[in-house]
Amino acid sequence: MPFPVHRPRRLRRTAALRSLISETRLVPAQLIYPLFVHAEPEPEPIQSMPGQMRWPVEQVAERCREARDLGLRSVILFGIPKSKDAIGSEAYAYDGVVQRAARYCKDAEPDVVLIADTCLDEYTDHGHCGILNGTEVDNDATLEVLARIAVSQIEAGFDMVAPSDMMDGRVGVIRSALDSAGMADAAIMAYSVKYASAYYGPFRDAADCAPKFGDRRSYQMDGANAREALREVKLDVEEGADIVMVKPALAYLDIVRQVRDSVDVPVGAYNVSGEYSMVKAAAAAGWIDEQSIVLENLTSIVRAGADIVLTYHALDVARWLQA
Ligand code: PBG
Repeated sequence: MPFPVHRPRRLRRTAALRSLISETRLVPAQLIYPLFVHAEPEPEPIQSMPGQMRWPVEQVAERCREARDLGLRSVILFGIPKSKDAIGSEAYAYDGVVQRAARYCKDAEPDVVLIADTCLDEYTDHGHCGILNGTEVDNDATLEVLARIAVSQIEAGFDMVAPSDMMDGRVGVIRSALDSAGMADAAIMAYSVKYASAYYGPFRDAADCAPKFGDRRSYQMDGANAREALREVKLDVEEGADIVMVKPALAYLDIVRQVRDSVDVPVGAYNVSGEYSMVKAAAAAGWIDEQSIVLENLTSIVRAGADIVLTYHALDVARWLQA
């Protein structure tokens, strides 16, 4: 008897064999490309996120076309308003930055799935994700505003809203507000499991939304908790979430897997700004190979159970997958 009988290496011998038996495949259609929109006339590079820009309202449709031409189907927009106030009123303004950008995009690229981040932190002068009562974020007062933001976003042409605030009950309140506004077809992708994370650092620089006092630990989740993640997901699905999301992705792959196994709606994972910028910095220093690392990271997120990945690498990945 030759030894050994079982030789898993037989199927690793050539690239064609390896690709034949690949258990996990990345395709551009499963990626969501995040874009920052500002109220200025020119694009502006984001220092903390090499390769990412704040785009003028009028140039977002061009970015959607570029994405679509590479096989990407979906974008999520983050707004950086001209002025901020205590209640984040530009978040639901008819002529708010993302509302204006959405009108251009729907007109120019109607097939691209347009998703809106539905939150207050980019729009409040204090940088918190809700309405303050003293130094506390007032959950129920925030819900009304979130519903108003969501309706204004769908009205402007977004296909989907993505509440990222972590207030209790927001999915239900947004669902009923959309339904009463005649927007029953608008989907909700809930940031159901959003951990209070230092990985959001570069994003807060990009959107100028770091809290001016305190932190987000009274509403975002504690990274130590997994059971609580499943509870959050269950509540959001009960309240009407069409897609649930885990964020950040890489340090929470166990959570992505558990969430995938616990619900039957699509699961998203957000490969956040800090994960992106660490790769970019190490690649720029010549310490790692950017393409290989990014594909390895994204494959791991999908292998862990994500159906959808939000990633700033989306354009690059789409190019690499085409080549
Ligand atoms: C809140 C929001 C944040 C991110 C997405 N939506 C910031 C936060 O909660 O502090 C972070 C995304 C990233 O880091 O890439 N509107």
